Amino acid sequence: MTLTAVITGASQGIGRATAYLLARKGYNVVLAARQHDRLEAVAGKIQEQGGQALAIPTDVTDIQQVNILIEKALETYTQVDVLINNAGICMTAPMAQTSLEDWQKILNVNLWGYIYPIHALLPHFLERRQGTIINVGSFGGKMPLPHMSAYCTSKYAVTGLTETLRLELEPKGIHVCGVHPSVTNSDFLERAVFRGEGDNSNQRIRQQMEEMLKSPLASQPEAVAEDIWNLIKSPQAEIVVATGAIATNLYRLAPNLTRWLLQQSIKQ
Ligand SMILES: NC(=O)c1ccc[n+]([C@@H]2O[C@H](COP(=O)([O-])OP(=O)(O)OC[C@H]3O[C@@H](n4cnc5c(N)ncnc54)[C@H](OP(=O)(O)O)[C@@H]3O)[C@@H](O)[C@H]2O)c1
Repeated sequence: MTLTAVITGASQGIGRATAYLLARKGYNVVLAARQHDRLEAVAGKIQEQGGQALAIPTDVTDIQQVNILIEKALETYTQVDVLINNAGICMTAPMAQTSLEDWQKILNVNLWGYIYPIHALLPHFLERRQGTIINVGSFGGKMPLPHMSAYCTSKYAVTGLTETLRLELEPKGIHVCGVHPSVTNSDFLERAVFRGEGDNSNQRIRQQMEEMLKSPLASQPEAVAEDIWNLIKSPQAEIVVATGAIATNLYRLAPNLTRWLLQQSIKQ
């Protein structure tokens, strides 16, 4: 029987690269994101190449839409084997410039947007005593990043969710894995929120981020998709992608030095 994967945030970036890769590997892919036209374009390309794709416009912060996503996936393909929680948004701002609405928005997408699909799909996985959940976190869920309290809080929560669920679900035949990208040259900045301290600082921070995404040290979405595929094939606790592994190891081994270096990067 053909295996099926549900991928959130599948219209662009890492999610789209993962959808193309899994379709090439012979999976049925169920694609979720909010913007219908972009999602249909991804599904169309997969179908042109002989793959099976179903686009279901979904806002992952809406529990009812997520329930419908999972119901339609099961109706169409009978079973789901892999859930890839990937939809996410980025925010850079000092705490004083981060409004409570900003906090709610980030946590709604990056945390609740992962909890809802797991909650909706878990009964199916438990009944079959099999399934794989891949949560796309961030190296910012393994170490602090300057002026990213809301984002890092959401991603540390994803790390906690992933590790705790693994403990609980492993004996029940369900794999729970984390993939933690570092800076990845995706379309992340399209939705990113920047708030700085001075008049020109939003623009300046955005430019710095743009340069980082284009640097040779940045990963490509296709490389992260390969790591996701490696976790599906041979489940393990987590993969920290590329340069993120160097940074997080440095933080683990020398937290004070790393904190000092990070503080220098935001000194006025
Ligand atoms: N790029 C990086 O440097 C980087 C680094 C570390 C971790 N990550 C993580 O990697 C994951 C993917 O990021 P990316 O770089 O591929 O970003 P991206 O190119 O901006 O793609 C984000 C995807 O999420 C979807 N999305 C956003 N809000 C959504 C919502 N409320 N409901 C449903 N879908 C939603 C977007 O589509 P719609 O707008 O149409 O909904 C889009 O398909 C995220 O979890 C991110 O935190 C990225």
